[in-house]
Amino acid sequence: MTADYRLEASWTPMAGSFGSFTFTLFNLSSGTLSGFSLVYTSMTRVADQHAAEGATLKRRVANFHEFAPPEGLSIAPGQSWQFSVEGLTHAPKHATAGIMSAYLTLGDGRHVPVSFGDLMMEGADLGELSELLPKGEVTEPYSLLPWPLSLSLRPDGVPPVALYPAAGSGVEDIRAVANVLALYQRLFPTDNVPFTLQPAQSGRPIRFKAESSIMPSAYELRFTADEIILASDDAVGRFYGLVSVAQLLHGARRQPDVFNFPAFGDIADQPRYDWRGCHLDVSRQFYPVADVERLIDILAWNKLNIFHWHLTDDEAWRLEIKAYPELTEIGARRGPDEVLVPQLGDGAEPRSGYYTQDDVRRIVAHAGALHVEVVPEIDIPGHSTAALFALPQLVDGQEAPDGYRSVQGYPNNALNPAIDFTYEFLGKVFDEMRGLFPSDYIHIGGDEVAHDSWLASPLCKALMEREKLAGTAELQSYFLRRIKDMLSERGKKLAGWNEVSHGGGVEREGTLLMAWEKAEAGIELAGEGYDVVMTPAQAYYLDMAQSEAWGEPGASWGGFTPPEKTYAYEAEGELPEELRDRVRGIQACIWGENFVSRAYFNRLVFPRLPAVAEAAWTPCLRKDWQRFAAIVRMWPKL
Ligand code: ACM
Repeated sequence: MTADYRLEASWTPMAGSFGSFTFTLFNLSSGTLSGFSLVYTSMTRVADQHAAEGATLKRRVANFHEFAPPEGLSIAPGQSWQFSVEGLTHAPKHATAGIMSAYLTLGDGRHVPVSFGDLMMEGADLGELSELLPKGEVTEPYSLLPWPLSLSLRPDGVPPVALYPAAGSGVEDIRAVANVLALYQRLFPTDNVPFTLQPAQSGRPIRFKAESSIMPSAYELRFTADEIILASDDAVGRFYGLVSVAQLLHGARRQPDVFNFPAFGDIADQPRYDWRGCHLDVSRQFYPVADVERLIDILAWNKLNIFHWHLTDDEAWRLEIKAYPELTEIGARRGPDEVLVPQLGDGAEPRSGYYTQDDVRRIVAHAGALHVEVVPEIDIPGHSTAALFALPQLVDGQEAPDGYRSVQGYPNNALNPAIDFTYEFLGKVFDEMRGLFPSDYIHIGGDEVAHDSWLASPLCKALMEREKLAGTAELQSYFLRRIKDMLSERGKKLAGWNEVSHGGGVEREGTLLMAWEKAEAGIELAGEGYDVVMTPAQAYYLDMAQSEAWGEPGASWGGFTPPEKTYAYEAEGELPEELRDRVRGIQACIWGENFVSRAYFNRLVFPRLPAVAEAAWTPCLRKDWQRFAAIVRMWPKL
């Protein structure tokens, strides 16, 4: 149904400032509108210092903005009301940087939906939307992605009708076939099956061989006229070998003019990195269990092996913690009349969502069966608005209410290192997480603690004096060292973002940091003795727009990232040889702010996620953008 009201927005660039927004609210209803306020969410925030004409900013919390019209304003049916604001926190760069949701609050307290569209730009060149993925071409007719380490194959004319475990296969081998078969059927439910458990006429048997000379996670495939030998030394290698033959059949059937199934020859394959990750932020937008499982299926198909699950942030806490039900009762719900106000696409209706511990067990088991490790993240001490609102005992009541603000515009959003309850709370959270997540690592965030955090907290001032801590960074290091000890006591290692190293950092042993601000930071951290995963925003943040064009959706603070840039990017740069072992791998990050629909998710995540997967698996010299482009168009999306 068409909403009764519509809000249009345009941006006018200006010299010497970030320009101004002009909003026009259209009354499409049959009644006169008066006595209301207008709420919208936008990543381009109105700054504290602003000048509004024709309206007054009543309230702003991060991306939530509430404007009141002039006293006595009424809008007759078919009429509109316009207002403008000069004073923005940054200049918008894309049409999606305007309104992400809107609603009206009427005089009687009801909230009614308002439709909206692109942010228009006044008087400037919009740029051209370009083709992001070429048609591509292959020099070898095999649909393998990531491309293997080495291959020497001769093509077959007609692909086998199906592959099946050779007579005498062990039960684990047969189960492995059934596992990859089920994965394939979930990903491509209308394609013909690649495997049967029963021998098939015109099919080909797979004979499994255990060979101790083959590295962990590696496999070899030997194709002959009578059979395919799949050799590996572990279940992971066997799994990837089966995924590879399924991929080969997939292409040979889908595009027989381009792709073939091998008749003879060998593939010898192993991953470049042992950490081939994908992160998903489920705080800004919630993803139901089925979506998370499907994303994990997609990771496995692309031979990614780490699912970094960003479970908490300012906008929501999504993990059930039995000791503190408030975390999800309050902290996983945003709405006009909720403790947490609407953000990032939330409209007139409240939205909520969290993972029960049964959900988590199910997702962890689903991932485990596909050789994907789930690394959970609780983002602390910053990015904690949802937890702080859910559990007010975490707040120093004497601290000035707007003492500092995060880069996303949240006031006082960091857990307080001087409150005993902070550690009691986190101890119970870690106790429950330990039972849910088998990973060696718990990721504790550590990113973007605002520069002057805690300096207006009397409790922190006393702590700084007692412990001789000089400022925010040293307070953070004090906090994270205690967190590291708490994790060690529970048999877990600490993973975090690169800022964990600030203010002295934490003990290096068993600490893994993700270099997101720039890849060079990762090399520095490796030099300081940390294990490192490269997640540079400039290449691997999949929420960044894919071209400079105004019409291209996505974020812009890390620049724009065409798929080819993501694909070609080499995060190691000039990595000194002696630091090579410290760089564990690379990872894509899917931050949720911009993903207000599955359509946007698919548009931005693909094909860049498979691009990261190939960069994580395939040696640099064997990457080939044209080949990747030809194959990736047959690959699954969410
Ligand atoms: C981050 O992007 N704040 C890790």
